[in-house]
Amino acid sequence: MSITITEPHAGVRQLTMDRPAKKNALDIESYSALSAGIQAADADESVQAIILTGAQGAFTSGNDLADFRRRSDPSPALSLLRALVLVETPLIAAVEGVAIGIGATMLLHCDLVVAARSATFRMPFVPLGLTPEGGSSYLLPRAAGPKLAAELLLFGDPFTADVAERAGMVNRVVADGEALPTALDMAARFGELPPKALRAAHRLLHSDRDEILAVIDREITVFRERLESDEAQAILNSFGDRSQRN
Ligand code: COA
Repeated sequence: MSITITEPHAGVRQLTMDRPAKKNALDIESYSALSAGIQAADADESVQAIILTGAQGAFTSGNDLADFRRRSDPSPALSLLRALVLVETPLIAAVEGVAIGIGATMLLHCDLVVAARSATFRMPFVPLGLTPEGGSSYLLPRAAGPKLAAELLLFGDPFTADVAERAGMVNRVVADGEALPTALDMAARFGELPPKALRAAHRLLHSDRDEILAVIDREITVFRERLESDEAQAILNSFGDRSQRN
């Protein structure tokens, strides 16, 4: 199973990206399971917080590169992004290890993000011949400021948890191994708050949902063109040949 769903405490639904042999890369099955897991948790009134995390010391290495090479339809990723935008339950991410590509952009949709000190982040869309997705071209400049957002999204270099905090992608940087326990403490705090007020406040904080969905649609149109391009396919085929075997 690529996504493990657990209930570590009453009222807390934990969704763990669980494909450690591929650093929890998201393939079509993972996207579908993650979207369904978020929607099911959101529909369950007993769930006060959803935690997103990854198994065995990695958050996720992002979209499965083999699927990019196959020019797979990005609709499953799109469904996940829409689920992240529309969820009405507080979403907390616990990041250890790598958060790459959509693994980084999905953090922009989480209400709270806890990262281990040695976690590394990367949005390597442009170096791969692709373009920013997941609402990142809208959300990151607002979170990080346009200059830092341009640096992170255009160069696509790896960056540290401290830079991610400075970019407004992370609430708290904690010791390695402490991301999930800290996220669980935060989830417990949500459980202590008056649920109707929490939901109403959450809705207010996410009042630009329609705008974000429109940005995601605009981004995916360009992304699809890029994925089909000879430029991107030449880079994807030359990069990380080992995962091409899969
Ligand atoms: N899709 C498919 N497979 C992936 C993957 C991805 N996004 N990321 C890692 N893997 C696979 C590797 O191919 C390798 O598989 P193998 O053991 O069968 O050869 C395995 O996961 C472990 O990765 P490896 O590169 O050996 O580990 P590492 O610790 O040296 O590096 C990463 C980890 C994630 C930094 C590196 O694998 C990487 O940069 N991956 C590509 C990430 C990416 O570009 N994602 C798309 C973003 S748009």
